[in-house]
Amino acid sequence: ASGARVPVLVIGTGYGGAVAALRLAEAGIPVHMVEMGMAWDTPGPDGKVFCGTLQPDHRSYWLRTRTKAPLNYFIGFPIDRDIPRYTGVLDAEEFAGITVYQGRGVGGGSLVNGGMAVTPRRENFASVLPTVNAEEMYSVYYPRANAGLGVGAVDPAWFESTPWYQYARVGRKHAQRSGFPFVFVSDVYDWDYMEAEAAGTVPKSALAGEILYGNNHGKRSLQRTYLARAAATGRVAVTPLHKVTSVAPASGGGYTVLMEQLDTTGAVVATKALTADRVFFAAGSVGTSKLLVKLKATGALPRLNDEVGRGWGDNGNVMCGRANHMWDPTGTRQSTIPCAGIDNWAAGGAFAEVAPLPTGIETYASFYLSITANPHRARFTWNAAAGRVDLDWQTAWKQPSITMARSIFDKINSTEGTIYRTDLFGAYKIWGDHLTYHPLGGAVLDRATDNLGRLPGHPGLYVIDGSLIPGNTTVNPLVTITALAERNIAKLLPTDF
Ligand code: FDA
Repeated sequence: ASGARVPVLVIGTGYGGAVAALRLAEAGIPVHMVEMGMAWDTPGPDGKVFCGTLQPDHRSYWLRTRTKAPLNYFIGFPIDRDIPRYTGVLDAEEFAGITVYQGRGVGGGSLVNGGMAVTPRRENFASVLPTVNAEEMYSVYYPRANAGLGVGAVDPAWFESTPWYQYARVGRKHAQRSGFPFVFVSDVYDWDYMEAEAAGTVPKSALAGEILYGNNHGKRSLQRTYLARAAATGRVAVTPLHKVTSVAPASGGGYTVLMEQLDTTGAVVATKALTADRVFFAAGSVGTSKLLVKLKATGALPRLNDEVGRGWGDNGNVMCGRANHMWDPTGTRQSTIPCAGIDNWAAGGAFAEVAPLPTGIETYASFYLSITANPHRARFTWNAAAGRVDLDWQTAWKQPSITMARSIFDKINSTEGTIYRTDLFGAYKIWGDHLTYHPLGGAVLDRATDNLGRLPGHPGLYVIDGSLIPGNTTVNPLVTITALAERNIAKLLPTDF
């Protein structure tokens, strides 16, 4: 209720927020979580909570009247379609030089992501989080995060035999024939459930093309892991469809938090205020950065330092497809959950996920999402005239990523005598260089915050999400975000609470 006082308020319900809520609640501290997206716990008229990738409806996108599919062309034709404006699960947030995809709803990115749960190679960790003790992370916090997330791996024998991973086996053959290490990648998807899907004994989700707009079954999203355990403590309350707009010191101590209650068209139906002794910013890299930059510039949190908004990177994301020969079909049946990648990080600065293209028809295409060592970092700034936060990323900054991805695919194309697909991102466009799934940074650890995510100058304010990580994790980021949150909250609990 408006006007209430709470000991801890957590902004956002993604990985960082869910870890903070669970560990605080386990320590006996009541936690209030505020989430701008929906709860995603109620089936629609079709009996499903989420819509499928091939039939996006109002549930697909956050407040858009037309879909904005990451892979937006097929055989050179645009595939986006009109939809009713609704507080859907996937936000395609457009900045001047990049579209940043993010999950919206209770569970954050875990609702829409591929669930690829990859711990970076230890020798790369110093570049991921240079001021964090690697020994502790690899002995305590990465294992804790993997356990909490329910990470598992595909059964090797099933992988070899199932038609659903033919595309990945083709990806392996091509990688290995060009001398690249092919690595299996863990995932939070329930692999036993997926095998049951293939056997036809349970409703299909990963094997029915569900992913980008949510999985109705099988995926261990945060709703089923950290947030379920947090709820079971009885000390965590979650308020969906409320967007935090301000955090400022309250006269009697603590912080006044302002929020807007939204309806499912995105209209503001009420504004509310409450007071929190402590606030965790867990709105994701973009959400937290936007809030902090605005609050510093408008004087609500004047003592935030000048590092706020800086150090933002796209994890070097770039997509591409290859056209295979007719004797290398990738399959009409494709699991949406990737389970493998090509690791050329050391030699070429690229780790390429062998991604599905689950269209239901044979495309003879191999599709990849590469994570690359892109050196560019962007900055969020307050645009007072427009009343919004801008990001100065430029599309041309993807060029290093393209060069790094080509260290893998030029060679594979040359070995196989194949070519790039030019029909997936436009007419005659090879590279998906307009987007990222992996926003990182904006409130970097030991720059905008101290070594545990405390915001200097404003005691009781903490950052605990992907904005702490300086722009690149060398692999998919969710496990590192979770492990860093586990580390920070474990060290904060005895000192600050
Ligand atoms: P996260 O974004 O998860 O959560 C932030 C939450 O805060 C959101 O729910 C948001 O709605 C809410 N919020 C924001 N502003 C707010 C405000 N002002 N008030 C209230 N609430 C607010 N990673 C990976 O490791 N493996 C993978 O396979 C993939 N695949 C993938 C696919 C797609 C399509 C996407 C979009 C992303 C991925 N990712 C991924 C990335 C991964 O999902 C992402 O890195 C994490 O979800 C980030 O976790 P955070 O806790 O930082 O924020």
